[in-house]
Amino acid sequence: MRKPKHLFATFFNTFYYHLFITKLQILKSNLFFSYLRNHKLGIKDIVGKNRTGADTQITNRLTEKIRKNMGKIIALANQKGGVGKTTTAINLAASLATYEKKVLVIDADPQANASSGLGIDIREIECSIYECLINKAAITDGIHNTCVEGLDIIPSHIDLVGAEIEMLDMPNREKIMREALAPVKDKYDYILIDCSPSLGLITVNSLTAADSVIIPVQCEYFALEGISKLLNTIKIIKSNLNPSLDIEGFLLTMFNSRLRLSNQVYNEVKKHFRELVFNTVIQRNIRLGEAPSMGIPVIMYDADSTGAKNYLALAQEIINRNNE
Ligand SMILES: Nc1ncnc2c1ncn2[C@@H]1O[C@H](COP(=O)(O)OP(=O)(O)O)[C@@H](O)[C@H]1O
Ligand SMILES: [Mg+2]
Repeated sequence: MRKPKHLFATFFNTFYYHLFITKLQILKSNLFFSYLRNHKLGIKDIVGKNRTGADTQITNRLTEKIRKNMGKIIALANQKGGVGKTTTAINLAASLATYEKKVLVIDADPQANASSGLGIDIREIECSIYECLINKAAITDGIHNTCVEGLDIIPSHIDLVGAEIEMLDMPNREKIMREALAPVKDKYDYILIDCSPSLGLITVNSLTAADSVIIPVQCEYFALEGISKLLNTIKIIKSNLNPSLDIEGFLLTMFNSRLRLSNQVYNEVKKHFRELVFNTVIQRNIRLGEAPSMGIPVIMYDADSTGAKNYLALAQEIINRNNE
């Protein structure tokens, strides 16, 4: 027969085990992660001090996961124009904000379409990404609120066209964006950089600052044209400037299931890049083209539209991938 002392120990072990599991379940919640971030706490500040080796391992893994998920910078890049970079920046950002993530969009294209698409009157902007990169203005002065709660933007300006030449003589000219973003990186869950259709110095800066890159691919003829050049640029940046740069995913855009061509492009991209292709495909949807003229993301323009649903699904997929 077991001694009462052992029974007592078993009872307490079970009790602490359940207590620990409950704590872990709470820890899993994103709200809790935000709380930790806001209060600059680590998991070990929350879970009790008397932990076993296994507990410590689990909590270390969680702490690492939180660090990894803090302020992820994702660049949207493809030197091809009109493939859906800006549409994705605006609507992915708004969808992430809908899932209560804190999001910052950096408009790194002198055409400033992401800025106007999020309701910014670019004629009234005094501090844009140009001032932050070239005149060393404080990055916080460049941050503007948008009509979406939890979504901020650093707008662009046509002056950005000349910025690449002005940057040429600057020290560490490829790392100017990374240094500029450092003070705000951990204030956001996601920072999305909308790149211009070029592989110039501003795009190199964006890729050097980024943790990962989303490559939108339009379901059209010559969809993969130029991709090898982009991949080569990413490879060079990875080996010389930013070793931790990952490919977040290839995103098929403007998909039309009735067109054989769309399906062919989908199969082709999937064959080349396999699991790097997002499960979510962005379908061609007229509402996505209309919303920017109202200065709002599609989710505010027509929440029931296919475009709104596709970008919500993409946001969910990205959140899931990053919480794995
Ligand atoms: N899924 C879509 N369905 C319909 N129109 C789209 C879609 N994605 C983008 N567009 C339209 O295609 C054009 C180019 O898209 P944009 O996002 O500006 O490309 P990029 O930033 O790569 O140049 C824009 O007029 C945009 O409204
Ligand atoms: Mg664009």
